[in-house]
Amino acid sequence: MGIYKSDEEVAVQQESCLLVSATITEVAKLLKPGITTISLDQMAETFIRDNGAIPSCKGYHGFPYSLCISINEEVVHGFPGNRILKDGDIVSIDTVVYKNGFHGDHAYTFIVGETTKEILDLVRITKESLYVGISQAVTGNRTGDIGYAIENYTYGQHGYGVIRDFVGHGVGREMHEDPQIPNYGFRGKGKKLTENMVLAIEPMITMGTNRINMLDDGWTVISADRSPAVHFEHNICVKKGAPLILSDFAPIEAAEKKNINLNSSYY
Ligand code: MF3
Ligand code: CO
Repeated sequence: MGIYKSDEEVAVQQESCLLVSATITEVAKLLKPGITTISLDQMAETFIRDNGAIPSCKGYHGFPYSLCISINEEVVHGFPGNRILKDGDIVSIDTVVYKNGFHGDHAYTFIVGETTKEILDLVRITKESLYVGISQAVTGNRTGDIGYAIENYTYGQHGYGVIRDFVGHGVGREMHEDPQIPNYGFRGKGKKLTENMVLAIEPMITMGTNRINMLDDGWTVISADRSPAVHFEHNICVKKGAPLILSDFAPIEAAEKKNINLNSSYY
């Protein structure tokens, strides 16, 4: 069973979700060719702490940083470091903040500079698939309805790889709560969704295979065929009729459009 949350608890958690949106917005303002990924991590950690929160990833099972930064064929959990971003890089930022007893968990993929039509399509379809999945997160549906919708949209209609080794999840007082939310599944199967469950829905999609390899750092997940990968994530609250999206892409998208070093021509 998912963990029951009151309306008051959901409202408190939304502050964490919006803070993580604000954190990624700050990253979006800085992204450009020539910048190191560790500088983004340092800025984000300062921003999170200045806002009275804790970067949940730092120290989580030994993860050493505040941001997961995954570039090109890296799918999730990439390490920030001395790597310098260059024109054409696909940069996924995934991070979690903890404030007032609740986590907010959010991911967004940016394109630095110029890229191909194929990559722009991959980013757009993955982002759209997130909303396709979210639309299924209503009382009475099951986790398989979300997974089926995402898989059908990305693999079924576009032939992309749907990562299966990592999945979405409940999120609240713990970073990972029940139920798991795979990005694949069968309609009407899986755990039942109940009112006020808060879920992290997070399609991780590649242009090629859904098989993955782990780098020697023990964290960075790459596509086994080195094809480009994209990751978007929202936190939502299950409601009757229509879910409530707790995190917010609007400030991130505004910063993305304003930053001339980022390519947002896909939407
Ligand atoms: N959003 C990721 C997840 O749910 C980030 C976790 S933080 C890390 O798995 F420390 F595991 F990287
Ligand atoms: Co997550």
